[in-house]
Amino acid sequence: MRSALCQDHPRKDFFEKIAPHYDLLLDILTFGNYAKFLRKAVKVLGPKRGEKILDLCSGTGRAASWILQAVGEEGEVTGMDITQGMIDVARNRYGGSGNLIFLQKDVTQPWEYQNHFDGIFTSFALHELPEKYRLGVLERSYSALKGKGRMVIADFNPHVLGTARIISLIFFKLFERGNLNFFDFNQNETFKKVGFKKIKTFSISAGILQITLARKRLD
Ligand SMILES: C[S@@+](CC[C@H](N)C(=O)[O-])C[C@H]1O[C@@H](n2cnc3c(N)ncnc32)[C@H](O)[C@@H]1O
Repeated sequence: MRSALCQDHPRKDFFEKIAPHYDLLLDILTFGNYAKFLRKAVKVLGPKRGEKILDLCSGTGRAASWILQAVGEEGEVTGMDITQGMIDVARNRYGGSGNLIFLQKDVTQPWEYQNHFDGIFTSFALHELPEKYRLGVLERSYSALKGKGRMVIADFNPHVLGTARIISLIFFKLFERGNLNFFDFNQNETFKKVGFKKIKTFSISAGILQITLARKRLD
């Protein structure tokens, strides 16, 4: 019988196996565009010296390591990921002590941070989370941000239309069948419901991908 964790996160085993090769494989398959997209998303987050940033579902820790360069020694970067293999790769590559830490954690379960982070970053992760947990994760992110905090989500665009939507659906049918419900997810409305303000979206690759920046407060 499969454990509740495996039932809720069916791709966890896949990420365990692929972790050591994940970045290289994705960069080869996308001709380097995966890394470029992540860099663009980190730029939209705009981490500054001394800030505390959370990378939700941090994978191999690549984006977290770039964010660390921006926040410097006075800042703090926390990566969270459910997959032990991903956490191991991140710690081996970038350390994982001092002001850069990687925590093995299921982000769909309660986390303790309140009013703590200046920014939250998450890339290619929201679509991986089971539908029933997406709202809760965004609510927890909102609570974990300081008053002037902001969140960046870099992922597929669930609102994509036309030919780009057909391409996205074919891709998901072939490679991510279990996550197809992401295209029914009303991301912008959910952000508003949670309380986020000033939601700005940047469309990439003909609208197939999207970077969303949302602020906790208007000022
Ligand atoms: C597609 S990968 C993206 C990794 C990284 N953010 C990137 O852009 O390269 C999705 C990541 O989400 C993690 N993940 C999926 N469900 C999770 C959960 N419930 N809690 C924490 N991490 C999760 C997986 O382990 C995997 O590392």
